[in-house]
Order: sequence, then C-alpha cells, then structure tokens
Amino acid sequence: MKTMAVRSFTHAGRRARLHADLTGKGTVMGDETILTGKVLCFTGSPFAGDPVGAARVEEAVGIAGGRIVSVGSRQAVRSALPRAVLRDYGDRLISPGFVDAHVHYPQTAMIASWGKRLIDWLNTYTFPEEMRFADPAYASEIAARYLDLTAAQGTTTMCSFCTIHPESVTAFFEAAEARGQRVVGGKSCMDRNAPEGLRDTAQSAHDESKALLEAWHGRGRISYAITPRFSPTSSPAQLEALGALWAAHPDCLMQTHLSEQTDEVAWVRDLFPSARDYLDTYEAHGLLGARGLYGHAIHLEPRERDRLREVGAALIHCPTSNTFIGSGLFDMAARMAEGQRMGLATDTGGGSSFSMLRTMAAAYEIGQLTGTALHPAQLWWLATAGSAAALHLGDRIGTIAPGMEADLVVLDLASTPAIAQRAARAEDLWEALFPTVMMGDDRAIAETWIAGRRVHPAPTG
Ligand code: GUN
Ligand code: ZN
Repeated sequence: MKTMAVRSFTHAGRRARLHADLTGKGTVMGDETILTGKVLCFTGSPFAGDPVGAARVEEAVGIAGGRIVSVGSRQAVRSALPRAVLRDYGDRLISPGFVDAHVHYPQTAMIASWGKRLIDWLNTYTFPEEMRFADPAYASEIAARYLDLTAAQGTTTMCSFCTIHPESVTAFFEAAEARGQRVVGGKSCMDRNAPEGLRDTAQSAHDESKALLEAWHGRGRISYAITPRFSPTSSPAQLEALGALWAAHPDCLMQTHLSEQTDEVAWVRDLFPSARDYLDTYEAHGLLGARGLYGHAIHLEPRERDRLREVGAALIHCPTSNTFIGSGLFDMAARMAEGQRMGLATDTGGGSSFSMLRTMAAAYEIGQLTGTALHPAQLWWLATAGSAAALHLGDRIGTIAPGMEADLVVLDLASTPAIAQRAARAEDLWEALFPTVMMGDDRAIAETWIAGRRVHPAPTG
C-alpha cells in the first residue's frame, strides 16, 4: 500500500478553534504529538466496491490540541509539527478508536449471566441490577469501571442506554467528561411491563429526558439520545410523549430495540394490535427518523426494511448478543445490499464481551452462517467509521484524517504466540490483521488515546 501525499492544516488559529470546539472551554494546549507506525486510513466504505481500495496505510499521524492535524509520510508530518513529541510504534497498527454503537453500561456487572432468553434474561438479571442505579454512588462506580474496561479494549466512543434513573445518565456523562471522551447516552424510559422501582410515566419520561438533554446535549463531547427502551415497556402514551420530544429536539439521536427475538415480536403484536408491524409501534408515535438507531433488527418484515432504508435510519448489529441470548442471525450482507445504514455494537451486557475485536469476530462468524464472508476491511470499518457514521458522528470520529478528533488505538498484531505465528505469514495488511480480529483480546490493545491524550495504559506521574 502506498503512502498518500501529506494533508495537513497547521494554521495556529484553526488549531486553537478546533480545540475550543473539542473542550468547550476555549483553551489552547501545547501538547503536540506525532505517532508513527502503520496508520490505517479509511477513504471510503469497503462495502461500496473493492474492500481493499477503501483504505490505505500511512507512516505518521500528527495531533495537536486534541485533533488530528496531519497524516502522511514521517517527513511531511514532522514538517507540519516541527516541535511535536515523537512516539514511534514500529510495526504496530494505529487505528481510529473503536466506536460501539449500542451498549448498556449499567449491565457491566452482570455481563455473562447464564441460561436465559431475552424476556427472562431482562426479568431475572437485568432489571434487578438496573434497580441499583437509583443510588448515584453505585452509578458513578459502574460508569467509571465501564469506561476503564472499554478503554482497555480500545473503545473510545459508545452510545449507551442508561437506566430509568436520571442519576445514571449524569453519572455516565460526568465520567465521560472527566476523560474528555465523546459519548452518546440517554435515560431508558419504561412505564409498563417492568418492576416497581423501574417505571416512570409518559410525563416524567418526557420531562426527565428533556431536562437531561437540555443540560448535556452538545456540552463538550457529550450527545443525548432519546431512549424508549423498547415497545413492550412503553405505553403508546409514553412513545407519543418521546416522539414529541424528539420532534422538538431533532438534532438528538433516538435509540431503541427492534425485532430482536421472535417471542418479543409476537408480544409486541399483542400489545399493539393496530400496528402494522413492530417498527410501526415507533413510526406511529414519531419515533422513526434518520437519527434513529434500532438495535438488533433481526426479524424484519419487508415493509420495515423499506421504511428503515427510506428514512436512512441505522440498524445496529449486535452479534455477540444475538448469539448469547439466542436471538437469531442478522443478515448483514443482505441488509447492506439493500442500502441500509449500519453500525456494529457489543450490546454489553446482553452481549458477552466488551471487546470490539471479539464483536468483529462474531460478525464474521454470523456472516459465514448467513452465506457471506465479510472482509476484514469491512469488519474494521464497521467497528470504526461505519459506527461513527451510524451515530451521525462521522465528521468527527471514526477515521484518521486532518480535522478529526484524535481518538486512536494502537494495536500489537502479534500479541500472543498463536496470533504472532499466523500473522508472520501474512502477505498484506488485512491478512496480518485478521488473526487479531479472530483471536485477539485486550492483549492486542497496546495503547488507547482519547482527544490526543493516552488514557490506556493510564499515564503514570
Ligand atoms: N431489549 C430491551 N432491553 C434490552 C436490553 O437491555 N438488552 C437487550 N439485548 N435487548 C433488550
Ligand atoms: Zn440493547
């Protein structure tokens, strides 16, 4: 792969403004760094044509004030940032940080709970755990634990469901803000079919979501997602109230679940007898739109697929969750071929891992079971640029290019003896990277950088 000509903008005023945007505080920082290694740059979607042509490898990336300012040859990046500190990563891969498009941070402590399918799993494990988030101290403890665990996996942005407690949202956003991390989150709303203590009302869901989004949406790197958990736990009145809130704040995202298990789809049919299908329970209440994120979306009717594509909504594929809870096989290739917008996600803790490497591997395996071998470039793009685009953040994160926020992960593509011996035979980057996709874990994550600063391993001193 050849090195592209350097693209940089080094004008000091532009850098200062970029940093002011990033922190919201207007401070200009002096920390300029050049990272050298194998810098993975996507230039387009690997689903649009030849996957290999959608990416190239550069020698260096220059960052200043939390942003990428220069990408290209060592020499070109050095001349763009003559005073920057140099960090040489040799053969290691420098990638955009991973973007996890659907998680439940409150489920961190009950991940890998045995033996249930969706509705029983929610009632047995999930709801009792989520009840604990009425305590702000517990919410803060788990938010910090979750962000530490995911930084160790190379994930730099995630879109999280919180619990019905506003305190759980505040805890998540405060923990992210302290780390300078770009995150999306929202209060899960439920006014029925959930235990006492985990129910709000149509009105309180609206009012609490509104107060949270007014306090947080667009503050620094935080965005708010209006979050009806899923149709079985929201009355039509609650869905209507949240649809009205979204109409009043159309720049917010809206996240929910859709057609995850066949039992759930049947239950939705009983609960909403006049709805044409599951998607219609959202659509009829103003909860279908381009900024909508629909987790799982496995068992869709043709009308639902048509409508999702027409409005440009995002389907979020959660492969480890879909196998772990026994939901079904999402047909990624078919959905891509029909032109759907797509994100990739762990769905922690229905998903069985915090790792986007493991998630890519599961997506690959499900692809094989549904008849298409996804190319490593497609998997990696989904875990970075694709998920960023699904979250409507593709102009800020998910790719390494001048002007993008400096969220990066440095990977060791020979992190275990088993991976190293296979990678040693590789003839190109994708063959070198695929053993890490399939067999890698947190040992492959050498460093994680957020907004131009290393967060993992935590800097000492
Ligand atoms: N559907 C409604 N809530 C949830 C959840 O927490 N996890 C998963 N996987 N599906 C859901
Ligand atoms: Zn979920």
